[in-house]
Amino acid sequence: MAKSKISRRVALYDLKLSSGAIRSATQTLESGWLSPGPKVAAFEKAICGLMQARHGAAVASATSGLELVLLAIGAEPGKEVVTTPFTFVGTIEAIVSVGATVVFGDINPHTLNIDPDEVFRKITDHTIAVMPVDIAGYPADYRMLKKICDTKRVPMIGDSAHAIGARYRGKPVSRYTDVSVISFHATKNLTCGEGGMVLSRHKAVVDAVRLMSRHGLTSNAFQRRTATGWEYDAVYPGFKANMSEVHAAIGLGQVRVFERDQKRRRQLAAWYLKNLADLGDYLELPVEERHCRHGWHLFIIRLHLSRLRIKRDTFIRRMAERGVECGVHYKPIFELSYYRQLLGATGQYLPNTAYAGRRVVTLPLYPGLAAADVDYVCECVADIVKTAAR
Ligand SMILES: Cc1ncc(COP(=O)(O)O)c(C=O)c1O
Repeated sequence: MAKSKISRRVALYDLKLSSGAIRSATQTLESGWLSPGPKVAAFEKAICGLMQARHGAAVASATSGLELVLLAIGAEPGKEVVTTPFTFVGTIEAIVSVGATVVFGDINPHTLNIDPDEVFRKITDHTIAVMPVDIAGYPADYRMLKKICDTKRVPMIGDSAHAIGARYRGKPVSRYTDVSVISFHATKNLTCGEGGMVLSRHKAVVDAVRLMSRHGLTSNAFQRRTATGWEYDAVYPGFKANMSEVHAAIGLGQVRVFERDQKRRRQLAAWYLKNLADLGDYLELPVEERHCRHGWHLFIIRLHLSRLRIKRDTFIRRMAERGVECGVHYKPIFELSYYRQLLGATGQYLPNTAYAGRRVVTLPLYPGLAAADVDYVCECVADIVKTAAR
């Protein structure tokens, strides 16, 4: 398509920090105290409130949070973690980095989340944790997963990087797990720029994560200045994975606009669902079962490849030619070179993931998107799939 035919440009992702977040970060920068202090503590409290969690430790990223949780529960070589191959690489990276073995369970083809029957089959005497992912912000099947984990006495660690805005049977996803980890990376529904939080009712796990994130030390500089005096000890293996005061300050500002942003995401998703409803011959839309509230981090459609004369790549290229940036969330882990080498050709045993991996396309979704942008994206989708119909 010629450039002149592009009537609009729609990015896959765009971020407008709130004025409150910018003010809060500026005040912190001017305060002269940038390492973890009162803003980090206030941010932990605010997120625990949002997620109805008893304890929370702010960390540098969700990836480091997952890694520290695994260490805190005793993950090591010889132990296995059952998880989904349909996820961001950070989930798997955390398991591999502590030396544990990754065991994949296939996904439910409709929700794209791990299939509980697969989890049941894959748990062994060596399983140290089950790690579901709420893909795109859609809650995993927590009722079934919890039953299985309780019966088998295996802790559930939720990679809820996407799911801060989600609800499962009316409650935040962290109410169903032993530990949940969320992400505040720049593209997430609530961002600090970079960051993560470990949430749990188990105080010992959260305390261990907090200490390990600061070199295993019993106190940080702020505590030594304001409360404990100079003395300190190292009581855990150390990592440098704490959240900084500036990141927490940004997050605190974003907390204030979070519900507004979520409402906008829900409106936009509803608009997409309505606009694309007639294209059922060519694509499958995200599901939202009655007992779930989607967190709408991502809007992922699935192309019916058998009804189209084009592949996913061509679809994405044609969208780009019309000014619309799309993404792919995700390439299955077993298709990434390093992990294919490390874990072997597991794809053939995970047919639902392999199939989803060939046909998923992520459409733009963020609070700053206009309804007219959604209309335009949907017009482009309709035009491309109808032209390519078999
Ligand atoms: C499912 C999932 N897990 C983990 C992560 C890692 O998050 P972070 O960038 O905060 O480490 C991401 C990041 O996008 C993710 O999508």
